[in-house]
Amino acid sequence: MDIRFDLKPRSDRRRTAFHPDAPLPFGQLRTDHMFLMDFEDGQWIEPRIVPYGPLSLPPGAVALHYAQEIFEGAKAFLHEDGEIHAFRIDKNAARLNRSGAGVLIPPIPEDDQVQAILALLDVDRLWAPHQEGASLYIRPFVFGTQDSLGVKPSSRYTFCIFLSPSGPYYPAGFHEPVKLLVTRRFHRAAPGGTGAFKTGGNYAASLLAGHVAHEHHASQVLFLDVTDTYIEEAGAMNHFHVTRRGKLVIPTFTDTILRSITSESVIELGERHLGVAVKQARIPIDEFLDGVRSGAISEAGGFGTAAVVSAVGSYVFDDATELRVGDGSIGPHTRRIYEVLTGIQRGKRPAPEGWLFQARRQEASSAPRKVRRKAARKAPAARKSRPRSKPR
Ligand SMILES: Cc1ncc(COP(=O)(O)O)c(C=O)c1O
Repeated sequence: MDIRFDLKPRSDRRRTAFHPDAPLPFGQLRTDHMFLMDFEDGQWIEPRIVPYGPLSLPPGAVALHYAQEIFEGAKAFLHEDGEIHAFRIDKNAARLNRSGAGVLIPPIPEDDQVQAILALLDVDRLWAPHQEGASLYIRPFVFGTQDSLGVKPSSRYTFCIFLSPSGPYYPAGFHEPVKLLVTRRFHRAAPGGTGAFKTGGNYAASLLAGHVAHEHHASQVLFLDVTDTYIEEAGAMNHFHVTRRGKLVIPTFTDTILRSITSESVIELGERHLGVAVKQARIPIDEFLDGVRSGAISEAGGFGTAAVVSAVGSYVFDDATELRVGDGSIGPHTRRIYEVLTGIQRGKRPAPEGWLFQARRQEASSAPRKVRRKAARKAPAARKSRPRSKPR
């Protein structure tokens, strides 16, 4: 893919390394540039990196009315050697295409997605924050732009990637366990629906639940399946618990649970690296709560890119009663998983082969480069993502 670089004049770009003088918020800041590519007449065309700024959309754009939109979330880290490394973005690229297949958005070759992210990281490398616990959050997304009010898939799309220099997701960082609301009032996803896809509508549908959770001084809802029998997700994270016997359990990925890349990483690292056996199972909520009450379950939490690992200190119920997990503090397994994962991401521990993608220094970061040739790549048929193993 030939990316066109229409960069800001040097004088308007960040020119020095970013040393924030206050803790960075999560997701609020932007870097100088973004990546764009359009889909028209059955092809992805005009891959380009341009100044970050507003997009022009017809008010009738399909995404604005029927939420034909998919997105991803990944992170890149500044290592001690001064280089930027993105964590498992090939997995995000594959998941973006799986989400696309679920809402009929045409796939984007995974290698092109990876290339686009790395090129943008290279261009805006000076934005990588020099701050403990901070990172460059990467947000790729695709949305239907056709000006049409029929409820049908858009014929045109835009793929955009932007970066957000961010601090930890929870302002208190890893050091304060969170509370989850256990309720049967809200459900995140139904069988046969879009729960396993990262599509905007799922998140709109979870906002009221999140709001009610906050009213209970909880950070999120522990979502159950529609029969109120099994644990599904902890807000926008996969749920996990650890038994006193040293087993870590993550709910089995079904079509109502997003396949978390953090969870998959924990599963792949397994006992050898984490000191705890990892398995997946359907987890009945009643058995789970009994286990917490009896002490058979000693730790619980959530896995997700934004917070990486979030310990749950207690569960709160609709009637405001609370159930503490263990002594309510962060348990040793949860702490170790956090340390191993963040150690790998930040280059402090050896990463398994293929987990980190270095943003190589290209010409583009020093001088604006114009490439006239357009990428005229025929999109593979929707629903079929081309299996590619490693980026170039
Ligand atoms: C509903 C949901 N579950 C789980 C996750 C965690 O997934 P990952 O670890 O890939 O960020 C996310 C965030 O992406 C999410 O939105």
